[in-house]
Amino acid sequence: MTLTQTAMDVLTQNDRGGFTIPTKGLYPYQWNWDSAFVALGIATYDMDRAWQEVTSLIEGQWPDGMIPSIIFRSDDPDYFPGPARWGETPGPIPSTGISQPPVLATVVRKLSEIDTQQDMLRLMRVFDALYRWHAWWHDMRTVDGIVATVHPWETGRDNCPEWNIGLEAMQSAPDLAPYTRMDNKHVDAGFRPSQEQYDKYLTIVQFGQSVDWDQRRLTDEGPFLMADPNLHFVLLRADQDLRAMAISLKKPQSVIDQIETWIAKGHAATNTIWNVQLGAFTSRDMHSGIFSNGFSNCSALCFYADSGTEDQRGKTLQHMARVARQVDYMLPSWDPEAPDFEAKRYWCGPLWPQMNYMTAIGLSEQGHAAEAAQLQDDLCRAIEKSGFWECFDPITGEGCVGAQFSWTAAIWLSWQHENKLKGAA
Ligand code: DGY
Repeated sequence: MTLTQTAMDVLTQNDRGGFTIPTKGLYPYQWNWDSAFVALGIATYDMDRAWQEVTSLIEGQWPDGMIPSIIFRSDDPDYFPGPARWGETPGPIPSTGISQPPVLATVVRKLSEIDTQQDMLRLMRVFDALYRWHAWWHDMRTVDGIVATVHPWETGRDNCPEWNIGLEAMQSAPDLAPYTRMDNKHVDAGFRPSQEQYDKYLTIVQFGQSVDWDQRRLTDEGPFLMADPNLHFVLLRADQDLRAMAISLKKPQSVIDQIETWIAKGHAATNTIWNVQLGAFTSRDMHSGIFSNGFSNCSALCFYADSGTEDQRGKTLQHMARVARQVDYMLPSWDPEAPDFEAKRYWCGPLWPQMNYMTAIGLSEQGHAAEAAQLQDDLCRAIEKSGFWECFDPITGEGCVGAQFSWTAAIWLSWQHENKLKGAA
């Protein structure tokens, strides 16, 4: 069987009827940015089902506009923290009380461009939901001019050492309700976050519940608040894609002006996460102002957002060249020269498919074809060697954490499809 056929099988096996789970066992629900990447893959063979992936995600949107990080359509005892731990949430379907990187508008724009038979009404409805979600980010999470995050899970990069500053500055709640982790029952504990980190993650959840998931209070009064290059650049890129869709849908000028304001604000905020000492974009604690101190796999997303100065972009490329000398498979999630780099532990080192995908798009759009090709080739080599894993050891190419993983299959399909189209042109 070809890898392309296997990739389609992975997506079919993870289909739960209108939405797709990331992988069985470890992640049994619908995750936000996972579904966005999944839609791209499904679009290569079933456009209606790809749109359904998007609309099913939007079904979970809260009255305040947030699209949550996980939608709990059932209560699976094999996952923790499930709906009971997040408590009463205001959305139409039980969910987490935080969001995830807003890659969806960028994906929807792409779907709308490749779907020549598209149903305009469906696109308009999706647009309105996306617009409300982006407004939510700007209204509920802006701090000192930049959209920041209240929880490492919201960044999608759970245990990246970038969050240590914010986590170390907070205390675990002394009255933290007891719990049993389930993640380590599905996969090797060496792949996953530490126990101390889990206590802090759940302390933030407990705080969110204590303010009835009032999102502005969670931002202003919560125990953790950091700016994140992933969230910042993904949102800035998605705002630009939202603007393009607003123009093509002939939305009122007031809507276009609002999006323009977000984009201008985003570009102005890019400097907030420029770590001068390191010469790289890094996360930053918004309580203390302290920067994290390593080059990660979202530092180079400045190209994807078309943001940052020539000097900042040049220094970013120099870091990439340095990192490439340390690993066999670009792009590791944490600096291989940092003391806390761990090649197999989740966001402390492994290569992540969706990050290679977005970074490669940015590099290619900004004229860095060789670097973009390396990110694509290295991920494809890792998949050919090991299969469709959640992430990969950047030194050996071995698969880590979840197997038969949806976004890895989807990105493979999307690239194969694009390469075929380029070949045919
Ligand atoms: C998990 O359960 O590990 C997730 O990353 C939380 O979103």
